[in-house]
Order: sequence, then structure tokens, then C-alpha cells
Amino acid sequence: MDRQVSLTRTEMFSFVNPWIRYFLFFFSLLFWVFSLLIVAIGVYAKVQKATDAVRDTFFIDPAVILIVVGVVMFFITFCGCIGALRENIRLLKIFSFSLTLVFLTQMVIAILGFFYSDQTRDALGKFVKKAIVHYRDDLDLQNLMDYIQKEFKCCGWNNYTDWSWNLYFNCTPSNPSNERCAVPFSCCTPLPGETVINTMCGFGVQTQDHLDTTKSIYPVGCADRAVIWIESHLLLVGALTLGLALPQIAGIILSQVLISEIHKEIGSVM
Ligand SMILES: *[C@@H]1O[C@H](CO)[C@@H](O)[C@H](O)[C@H]1NC(C)=O
Repeated sequence: MDRQVSLTRTEMFSFVNPWIRYFLFFFSLLFWVFSLLIVAIGVYAKVQKATDAVRDTFFIDPAVILIVVGVVMFFITFCGCIGALRENIRLLKIFSFSLTLVFLTQMVIAILGFFYSDQTRDALGKFVKKAIVHYRDDLDLQNLMDYIQKEFKCCGWNNYTDWSWNLYFNCTPSNPSNERCAVPFSCCTPLPGETVINTMCGFGVQTQDHLDTTKSIYPVGCADRAVIWIESHLLLVGALTLGLALPQIAGIILSQVLISEIHKEIGSVM
């Protein structure tokens, strides 16, 4: 074939579907930009602060997790992006392989978490326990616990007496803290017509008997509340899972299609 003929031939027909190619390109580009954002947030959080209380609570600094996830995502989406644009089989194969690996890892974790739900609950309980212990040591942990308790209308992990894990709220008689036997006011049920939050509404709650207590604070622990929440939001949980899985499956399938098309293209030119 002379040069002119071969050029006309490729212009007229190609095994590589441009829609798939550019879809994969823009799709990867989107997540590539997104990965940069995650790394930026992680680095910002790392530089801004990382107290010992946060590290102790989460075992690993959450900022480090963000950076690692972001960097891994950066390299995977980079392969997809450039692989699709340049029709580079090696990059596309790396993209497809690593995406499959990530997808399978997530699936194994999800399945294990589901079948070992008691252990999952215990593991989560360890986080919450540490967060309760360090409640006063870090403003972010404090805000996190307050947010969880207010949003899920719960108090403590098992129940409100868990606040005794914290040095300030501990209910042993020898505790000199003026918050002895209290719970944070994020445990309090808002009273109708209340305009100013009574920040002392949790004081002495752990000393009162159970029936009396449940009138002013959330009676259910956050562990039970989380189970109730998941059971009543199964559709949302399913949608979120699908939202996480679908882009990965799409990426794996599209890159495989593109690889086979490029193989065909090479075969037809040779
Ligand atoms: C709170 O939970 C702990 C641990 O599960 C339990 O021993 C305790 O009896 C509970 N207290 C109340 C008042 O429900």
C-alpha cells in the first residue's frame, strides 16, 4: 500500500469507535481532576492539623488515607486518560487491571463487612470509644461526635453511660470535674419552642434513672441507631454502592472494548 492509499483507508474506516475512545478519555479526565482534588484536600488537612487525638482515634491519620486514595486514583485515571487518547494498549491494560483490582478489593471488604457484621460493629465501636475518650482533646473530634449524635438522634455508642469513658464526664464519685456524670449537650432532645440551647441540659444525666433520663436526652445508643438507619435506608445504601461500583465497571468494560478494537485495527493495517 502506498502512503496515499493507506491514509485514505484509515480516514474512511477504523475499528476504533471514536465515541468509546472519547467517552473513556473524558470519563477518566473527570476522575483524574477529582483525584487531584482529593490529594489537595488531604494535603491541606495534613498541613493544617493532625493532632495525636485524631491519630489515636483513627489509628491512621485520615488525611494520609485521603492522600493515598487520591494518589492511587491519580495514577489509575491517568493511565485511562492517556491510554484512550493515544490508543496505547499498555496504558489501557494497566488501567483495566488496576481498576479490576480496586473493584475486587472493595467487593471483598463489603462482603466481609456484611457477613462479619458483629465484628464490623465492634470495630466501629472502637473508633467511637476513642472519639468519646478524646472528645475534649480535639475540636474536629468533638464536632464529629456532636454531629453524629444530633443527626442520628443518639447518645454514646451502646447508650448514654458510655460518656463515662471520657475523663471529664466520668461518673465515679472521686472525679473532680464539674461535668462529672454529664453528657454533651448534643445528646439532648430539643424542647419544643426552645430558642436558646441549654448547654447544661446533659448535666447529671448519668446519675438519674433510665426512665427519667430518656425524657431529656436521646435514649438510644448510636450503634443501634446506625443499624436502624441502614435498615430504613436500604435503597439509599444500594444506590450509593451502585454509584461507586458502576463507574468502575464501566471503566473496565470500555477499556477492554477499546483494547480489542485497537488490536483489530493493528491486525487490519499489518
Ligand atoms: C448501657 O450499656 C451498657 C453496656 O452495653 C450496659 O451494661 C448498661 O446496663 C446500659 N445502661 C443502660 C441504662 O441502659
